[in-house]
Formats: sequence, C-alpha cells, structure tokens
Amino acid sequence: MKKVSALLAVLMFLLMLTSCGVQKEDESVHNAVVVGFSQLGAESSWRIANTASMEEAAKAAGFGLMMENANQKQEKQIDAIRSFIAYQVDVIVFSPIVENGWDNVLNEAKKAGIPVILMDRMIETNDETLYTSYVGADFYAEGKRAGEYLIRKANAMGAEHMNICEICGTADSTPMRDRQRGFMDVIRDDPRFTVIESVDGDFLRSKGEECAVQLLDKYGEDEIDVIYSHNDSMMLGVLDILEKRNVNPGKDIILITVDGEKEAVDALKAGKINCVVQCTPKLGDAVMELVRKLKKGESITKITHPEESAFTDFDDLQDPSVEGF
Ligand code: AHR
Repeated sequence: MKKVSALLAVLMFLLMLTSCGVQKEDESVHNAVVVGFSQLGAESSWRIANTASMEEAAKAAGFGLMMENANQKQEKQIDAIRSFIAYQVDVIVFSPIVENGWDNVLNEAKKAGIPVILMDRMIETNDETLYTSYVGADFYAEGKRAGEYLIRKANAMGAEHMNICEICGTADSTPMRDRQRGFMDVIRDDPRFTVIESVDGDFLRSKGEECAVQLLDKYGEDEIDVIYSHNDSMMLGVLDILEKRNVNPGKDIILITVDGEKEAVDALKAGKINCVVQCTPKLGDAVMELVRKLKKGESITKITHPEESAFTDFDDLQDPSVEGF
C-alpha cells in the first residue's frame, strides 16, 4: 500500500511538471528524473536531518523522490531497491544499514541498467562496479579525530592512566566499524589508555541510557575516566543518566562524541561534553548534483567526502562557527 502511494506521488509529480508546463533551465535533464531513495531508518537526529536534506535537495533540483524508510531492517531496504528497479527509476540512492549482503540486489540493479549511489554508508563487496558512487563521511578520519582529542586532553591533564568505555553504533555498519578502527589506531600504542568495555548502543538515545546504567553499575563512576560514543544520540542518553546520578559530566568523566547535533554542541558549550567530532547529515545537494551529472552523461567521482572537523573544549566556543545542525 505504501509503495503504491509512493508511486502515485511520483506519478502526480511528473504529471504536474508536464501539465503546468514548468520551464526548467534544462528540461531534458530535470523533467523525467525520478530518484528511488531507501533510507535506513529514523534512529537519530542525524538521520532525520539527513532525510530532510535529501527531500529538500530533490525538490530544489526539480527531481521526483520516491522514498522508502526501512525502519532499521535490511530486508526492507532490499525490498525497496527491488521496487525501484520494477518502477524503473533513473537512479537508486540508498544508505546501507550494514555493510554486507547487498551483492544480489545490486546485481539486479546493474542488470536493469540503473546506477546506484551509496549515501552516508558503504558496502563490503568484491565488485566495485555494483555502485557508481559513494557520498558520505570519512568515518575512519572521524574516529582518528576522537582519538587525537583524547591524547591532547590526557596530555593537558597530565593523566597517567585512563579507563575508556566505548558505546558503539549499529553492529557491522560503516560508522561503527570505522569510528572504532580510527580511534583504536590512534590510541592503541599509548600505554596510558585501556578500553575496559565496548558496548552496543545501536545509535539510539534510549540504548545510550541503558549502556550508561550498565557501565556505571558494573564499574562505578570512579573506574570510568572516558566515555567515547559513536554518535550524539547515545551520548545524550549517557548524559541524562550521569546527571541523574550526580556524576559531573565533562569533569568527572571525559565525554567524546560524534555528529554535531545542536543539543550536543550546546552541551559542549555548557562544559558537559568535551569533544564533538563533526559528521554532517547534509548530503542531499551533493547527491542530487551527481544525479544531474549522471543524467547528462557526465562522468562522476567514485568517492565524495564532505569537509569535517571537530569542536572541543580547547576551542573558543563563543565563535559563531561553533554550531550544531
Ligand atoms: O551513518 C551515520 C550515523 O548514523 C550517524 O552518526 C548516526 O547518528 C546515525 O544514526
């Protein structure tokens, strides 16, 4: 039923363009373009901002967007991609919830001659021709930024030893794997640091709360020096629990997180979080630009990473450039 209404919406969109005689700057590119977009879910503020970015960018480009939300289920993403193939959309864009298990359906898209753009997350495959392009963060670099901040902080504090708890995003997803790998590659050889536990928080605020309860009950606040969270939503859940237990966040325990949503950046400014590594959800314009080029028959880049950095308690946090999304 949902698919039928998505198709109807796109058909109405196309009808509107033709019947109103909309004059676009390049009608041959814009008028007929339909993008099939499989979003993986709505687990975080980042994801919601990312969906909005895709919708706004498609509208601004004059493209029809057929969107399906998979509610964290890989099977639903596979079904959505199959329906886009059946509808013969011009380009398929999707954000893979996990890295493995896509070869079959992407082979079907390839046979149908529909280019695929990976947005936000990567896939693991031996056949690079299964996708045309990837637009999204360099998650490994983000993990490294988190580790580099920790080294700088430990130096500034003169810390001799720090116990770290890591709260991970969705198992086997690109940001989970690479934010962990980047972080570990930076701190692994420094004897001052021990990761005492890595727990799965699935990128959810509610799970961040559960993880904080579990870790505090197991180790006690005095045994935990640092919490590294793979996203802001989980860290905001941690923050709620720390405050309930009268633990002084950002002082008793160093808090490092990734994303840069407004609530987390505000908590950094309030001294409750120590480091927010940026990851922008605003990928829509870059994706639609690739779609436009593909439809014009132009060659496109295989990998596009947005420019990102980190906000930390070493920075001038009054600077207007320090803001969340
Ligand atoms: O893939 C990007 C990650 O997914 C973001 O860091 C997280 O907030 C989201 O759910």
